[in-house]
Amino acid sequence: MNIYKEVSNTIIEKLKKVSEIKDFIKDYESSMTVEVPKVRDFGDFSTNVAMLLTKVMGKKPRDIAEILIPYLKEIPFIESINIAGPGFINIKIKNEYIQQWAFTDSLIETKVSGEKIDLDYGGYNVGKNLHIGHLRTTVVGDTFNRIAQFLGYKTKSYNHMGDWGRPMGLTIAWILENGMPKNVDDLNYMYPASSARAKEDKAWLEKAQKITVELQNGNEEYKKIYEAFIPMSLNQVDNILKKLNILRFDENKGERLIAEYVPQVEKILEEKHLIVHSDGAEIIPVKEDSDTEPMPPVMWRSSAGAQTYAAADLTAIYYREKTDHPNAIIYFTDNRQTLHFKQIFRAARLAGFAKDIELQHIGFGTITGADGKPFKTRDGGVPSLEEMLNIVSDSVHARVKESGKELPNDTIEMIALAALKFNDLMHDVKSDYIFDVESVTNFEGRTGPYILYTAVRLNSIIKKVGETKTESKQDLTSEERDLLIFLLDFERVVDTAFERRAPYLIANYSYDLCKLINTFYHNCPILREDVDEGTKAHRLHIVKQSLKVLSTAIDLMGLRVPEEM
Ligand code: ARG
Repeated sequence: MNIYKEVSNTIIEKLKKVSEIKDFIKDYESSMTVEVPKVRDFGDFSTNVAMLLTKVMGKKPRDIAEILIPYLKEIPFIESINIAGPGFINIKIKNEYIQQWAFTDSLIETKVSGEKIDLDYGGYNVGKNLHIGHLRTTVVGDTFNRIAQFLGYKTKSYNHMGDWGRPMGLTIAWILENGMPKNVDDLNYMYPASSARAKEDKAWLEKAQKITVELQNGNEEYKKIYEAFIPMSLNQVDNILKKLNILRFDENKGERLIAEYVPQVEKILEEKHLIVHSDGAEIIPVKEDSDTEPMPPVMWRSSAGAQTYAAADLTAIYYREKTDHPNAIIYFTDNRQTLHFKQIFRAARLAGFAKDIELQHIGFGTITGADGKPFKTRDGGVPSLEEMLNIVSDSVHARVKESGKELPNDTIEMIALAALKFNDLMHDVKSDYIFDVESVTNFEGRTGPYILYTAVRLNSIIKKVGETKTESKQDLTSEERDLLIFLLDFERVVDTAFERRAPYLIANYSYDLCKLINTFYHNCPILREDVDEGTKAHRLHIVKQSLKVLSTAIDLMGLRVPEEM
C-alpha cells in the first residue's frame, strides 16, 4: 500500500473538480504537490495549491484555502484540516484509515512490472583481488537488483569481467618468465609487478601487447596458461561475494566471452562507415557539434591490433539487445568511467543499436579517509574487500568485548557485514564519503548495527509471545500513529529508490523507521503486566507489521540478521 499515492491522488483529483478554481488550476496541475511535512504536529500531509493559485485568482492564499477546505472535508479519510504559514493546507487523516491499511496484508504489495532490465555491475578483473574500489559497484548494484526484482522487474545481472585486455598479456609475460602461480596470492602479485615493469621497460610493454593480441587471436600456448590461472581468480571472486551476501550474477560474461560477437559488430560499423583509421588504430568519432566538453573518439581497436575495453562494452550492448531485449541497461561503476559510457552510448546510437533501450550509467564517488583522499590501509595500501571486512569485524569484536558481552563469530560477521554495507548504501552514490570504522560499527545512530539491533529486538518480542491475534484500535498514541503512517510510506520509498536509482533512500528510510520503532517501544509498553489485553494485542500487531517492513528493507540491502545481539 502506497499511502502517499492514495492520499495525494485523491486530494488532487478532488481539487481539480472544485468549481471555484477549476478554470485557474489547469496550468498549475503539474506544480501542485502534496507533501509529507517534516514536522508532523500540524498534519500528515500538506499541499501548496492555495499558494500556487494566488496570482491567477488575485486572492490571498489563505482566502483560497478557506474556499477549498469544505471540499477537502468531503474526502472520507480526512480527519481535520488547518491552514499554516502563508497558506499551506495541512491535512490530518483519520486513524481509522491508517488502521484499515496498516492492519491488512496489503501493507506490502507484490507487483509484476513485466519490464526487463539488464544490470551491469561488479566488472571484476582477473588477476586482481577485489578491493575497496569494487565495494560500491557490488553493494549498490546488488541492492538495486533486489529492489528491481521486488518491484516485479525481470532483471539480468552481468558481471562484465575484465579478463581479455592488456593485464592478461602482462600476466602471461610474467608467467612465461617466472612460472605458473602456485596460488591466487601469487597470481594477484603478478599483474601489478609486470605492469610496474612495463612502465620502465618499453620492450617488456611491447611484449605484453603482442601476447595480448596473440591470445585474442587464439595462440594455443597462451590460451593454456590463461585457462590455468583464470579459475583461481574466479574462485576468489566467488568467495568474497558469498561473504558479502551478494546475489549470484546471472552472467559472468565479460571482455573474453563477448569477443565472439566483435566481428559481427565490426561488420556493422564498417558498413555504416563509422570506423576511421588513425595511426594504426581504429577509432569511432562520436563528437557532436553541440559538445562543449572534450569528446574523444571511441578506441575500437588498438594500434597493436587488440580488442579494446570500449569494443567489449559496445559489443555487449549489441549482444544484450539481441538476446535479452531489455527495456533498459544500467551500469554501475565509479564516476571516472562517465566519459567512457557517454562515448559508448553514442557509438551504440550511431550504429543503430539499442533503439528502444534506455542506456544509463550511474557513476559513484570515492570512499575516502578522514583526509579526503582515497581510503588506504594503515600501511598505505589499497585495501582488499577482504581486508575491509576484517577491519570492520575487528572493530565490532572490540566493541562487543568492551560491553562485556559474548557473541558467536558468525554474529560478529553479520554485524560487520551490516556495518560495511549499510554505510555504503546510506550515502548518495554520486557523492564521495568518508569511511571511518569507529562510526560505522557504532550500535547507535545511522549505522548497520543499529538497524540489526532493532530487528533483533522485534524478533525477540515476537518469539516471546508466539502467535497473536490481530486487534485494531481507534485511539492511537502519537508514537503508534507516526510509526503506522511511516510503515505505509514504505512502498513509495521503494518506488522512488528505483526510479531515481537511489538505494540510499531505502537505507535512510530504514534508519528513520528504526528510530520510530524504538520510540514506540520505549513509550508504549507491550508485555508489561498493567497493559490490557486489547492494547497488548494491538501493539504486538504493530510490532509484527514493523518487522515485516523492516525485514523487507533489510533483505533489499542484502544484510543478515543474527539471533541475538
Ligand atoms: N573491469 C573494469 C574496471 O575495473 C570495470 C568494468 C565496468 N563495467 C563495464 N561494463 N565496463 O575498470
